Amino acid sequence: MNDEIYGSAIWMIDAIRRALKGEGSADVKARLAVQDLSPASVRIPVPHRLPACRHLPECVAASMFLAPDVAAALAEIDEFLHWKQNPNYSDELMGEGYMDNYAYAELIGPGGFFLGEDFLMGLMLLGPYRHYPDHHHPAPELYWLLTGPSKWRCDNSAFTERKAGETIWHMPMMSHATKTLDGPLLAIWAWTRDVGVPAKLLERA
Ligand SMILES: [Fe+2]
Repeated sequence: MNDEIYGSAIWMIDAIRRALKGEGSADVKARLAVQDLSPASVRIPVPHRLPACRHLPECVAASMFLAPDVAAALAEIDEFLHWKQNPNYSDELMGEGYMDNYAYAELIGPGGFFLGEDFLMGLMLLGPYRHYPDHHHPAPELYWLLTGPSKWRCDNSAFTERKAGETIWHMPMMSHATKTLDGPLLAIWAWTRDVGVPAKLLERA
């Protein structure tokens, strides 16, 4: 059982490593290279689904052409993923229905297949027509968009449309926000260091 899970988890992580390019990808790969991803260190996540997971099949199908290895590996590990939410977020803060449309799962991190050493990597889901308002955190952060388009901004700039396949890199404490359009967003994300401080929402402008 552990061998099977290890194989699937490593397949997923290697598929991401191979496909990742653009700003921030070198930082992510450098941190990934020093993580303990040995067979002895594999952990079996406690599977946990959330309402936002209803968007996952559509997102996996949409990412088949963009990142076929990642999409195929994701289908393999899907049943093991432990989806969760930032406990500080609520519909009151994020808009009605937000919490039913938002979830993330770690591949590397406390809820993932490997614990990680001051490094997190995982998946993020956000349903259509949602606004993840401005927030920041000390961790440098990469997003690799597997579906799209969606709109992004940082440092209170105007929102710009970003397509599937693009990567977005946020420096420490840089404010950033996301808006989804008529389709759900699935992204790979990574925090490369200083992962102990959670994201903090900023006052709405
Ligand atoms: Fe972030």
